[in-house]
Amino acid sequence: MKDKWGRTIDYLRLSLTDRCNLRCRYCMPEALASVGHDAVLRYEEMLLICRAALALGIDRFKITGGEPLVRKGAVAFMKALKEMDGVRSVTLTTNGLLLSEALPDLVRMGIDGINISLDSLDERQYASLTGGGELSVVRQALEQAAAQCVNVKVNAILLAETRDQILPLAELARTYPIDVRFIELMPIGFGTTLAGLSEAETLSLLVRAYPDLAATGERRGNGPASYYQSRYLQGRIGFIAANTHAFCASCNRLRLTSTGFLKPCLCYDDGVDLRPLVRSGQGEDAICQALQHAIAQAVHEKPAKHCFGEQDHISEHKTMNQIGG
Ligand code: 5AD
Ligand code: SF4
Repeated sequence: MKDKWGRTIDYLRLSLTDRCNLRCRYCMPEALASVGHDAVLRYEEMLLICRAALALGIDRFKITGGEPLVRKGAVAFMKALKEMDGVRSVTLTTNGLLLSEALPDLVRMGIDGINISLDSLDERQYASLTGGGELSVVRQALEQAAAQCVNVKVNAILLAETRDQILPLAELARTYPIDVRFIELMPIGFGTTLAGLSEAETLSLLVRAYPDLAATGERRGNGPASYYQSRYLQGRIGFIAANTHAFCASCNRLRLTSTGFLKPCLCYDDGVDLRPLVRSGQGEDAICQALQHAIAQAVHEKPAKHCFGEQDHISEHKTMNQIGG
């Protein structure tokens, strides 16, 4: 459906859990208390929300977390979602640690894409950034997924301290037919506690190594990245530059937290709590009607743009693991 600024909203990011098996410094560095078990939506409740979203033309779904694969039954949920009438795509964002084990089932259910979050290819730095993550496990999963011809993307957050990882990370697009996307650090949650790098700085480093690097102008997947190609690379280099090249004018998304709070924009804490609606005790059809109404309201209220440049105006104080990135 269209929002009041004329944008088509057709994409929902679903956080399955705020829990994670890593502690990335910009995301959930401490052992934050996770939300109570009862507060988290059951899979049936999430599917009902997806049904209502589908009725409004929202037909692409990203499964995210925390780390979605730490929640039991995550792959079965994705399969059930993928089998719903009208679903165009189901994709997954994961840190990759549990991916090898889940991969055969993900391939079998026809996953439309897997984004692996990976900010450094230096073993020690990776462990330090993630609070103990083992790089070799992620690399193995990445290789397996690429070998199975899954649509794999690597998402790397641009940090000042990982500047010397830009070229090694870009190399992944030379070795494998996968896209490597560099993401500007957003000032949400613990994202304010680290220094980031901009797209422009990163691009100038990359152009030295790949002089023919050129913008492709294409849109791939769910949207916000701009892509570059080089004849030396099998995959593309992408940028998600929310700070320096805001893409709000073409934003197509809503976000659902694991507790059922529907967020129209990453930057603000406004939104609609869908949990009381899914738990109202009414019949499924009545619930679905109420959900459609509430989702339409959230779409209607979607702000024109974020205000990452004006820190005082950012009203979102949840951490990224609660929101789902
Ligand atoms: N800015 C940008 N991306 C972030 N992520 C977590 N915190 C931030 C932030 N402050 C990303 C993770 C992962 C996705 C779920 O969200 O790296 O790729
Ligand atoms: Fe976990 Fe992803 Fe947050 Fe890292 S960025 S702590 S892997 S949810």
